Amino acid sequence: MKMPVELCQVDDYEVVGTEDLGQDWFRLDIEAPAIASTARAGQFVQVRIGPGDIPLIRRPFSIFDVGPQPGADATMIRLLVQRVGAGTRAMVQLRAGDRIDLMGPLGHPMPRPELDATGTLFLVGGGIGVAPLYFYCRELVNESCAHRYKVLLGARSRALLIGLEAFESIGVETCAATDDGSSGYHGNVIQLLGDLLDQLPEGDAVAGIGCGPHGMNLALRKVAVERDLRFWISLENYMPCGFGACFGCVIPGPPDEPPRYRRVCVEGPCFPAHELPEQF
Ligand SMILES: Cc1cc2nc3c(=O)[nH]c(=O)nc-3n(C[C@H](O)[C@H](O)[C@H](O)COP(=O)(O)OP(=O)(O)OC[C@H]3O[C@@H](n4cnc5c(N)ncnc54)[C@H](O)[C@@H]3O)c2cc1C
Ligand code: FES
Repeated sequence: MKMPVELCQVDDYEVVGTEDLGQDWFRLDIEAPAIASTARAGQFVQVRIGPGDIPLIRRPFSIFDVGPQPGADATMIRLLVQRVGAGTRAMVQLRAGDRIDLMGPLGHPMPRPELDATGTLFLVGGGIGVAPLYFYCRELVNESCAHRYKVLLGARSRALLIGLEAFESIGVETCAATDDGSSGYHGNVIQLLGDLLDQLPEGDAVAGIGCGPHGMNLALRKVAVERDLRFWISLENYMPCGFGACFGCVIPGPPDEPPRYRRVCVEGPCFPAHELPEQF
């Protein structure tokens, strides 16, 4: 497999559409054929904000979707942007016709666990983590895979459940969990996952991918390690460069290997849960 950086393009591209999704969430549609045609779910782009040097550091964003369909004919990428600071504030002010400087696709695609028809793949998301999981589901829908897959989305309350309708609109079985019980399961998404795992017939194969806030990722790792499940967790560490040069994104290596650091941007961003230390 080629290293992600070998397929990476750097250029400026045209914004072709934007949408305010409410609650500080926005969608940006960008005509970027060089990125869209090779991008796979789980990969990300580094966005350069503004024409000058401030902010100097690019900002990483998962590819939320490509259009019209995932694959070599795709010409457009979509980003789901949560407005949190100066960089994202500038991004969500872009309008159709504006240009945006992107570097990508970067990082490895999310894995495809092998499961038979009785197996279930759980896709566990929270916050901005829903972006790569949606692209992943679009790929699974196109490939008509044999096993079941189920999206579990968590948020503090109903209004913050970003992406729920998008998953449902492509026919993916989706369960919501809210801390305040305003939609779906009353509790957090890891508690929901635990309940669903308990209900599965003994012997059924299970795998999963999670992407969410740090606390969710830590809790997911714990469940996966304690129950000895094949889960992967996609990390969203601070990433100054995104292509392996700065070591600004490192996590400790697997606990059973000689001590070393792993760069999340080029070795990940998705890692097997059992390779992650208790704190990462
Ligand atoms: C692999 C990856 C995928 C991501 N995908 C998405 C996504 O799909 N949608 C989305 O809205 N956000 C995503 N993020 C987070 C996004 O990069 C930050 O929200 C953004 O960089 C904030 O920039 P800012 O200038 O608005 O905020 P700032 O005020 O600069 O910072 C606000 C927060 O963003 C974090 N941040 C700032 N710069 C970086 C950086 N270079 N790398 C990582 N985090 C940074 C800071 O640590 C801080 O917690 C992703 C991050 C990573 C690492
Ligand atoms: S962000 Fe620079 S090495 Fe990973």
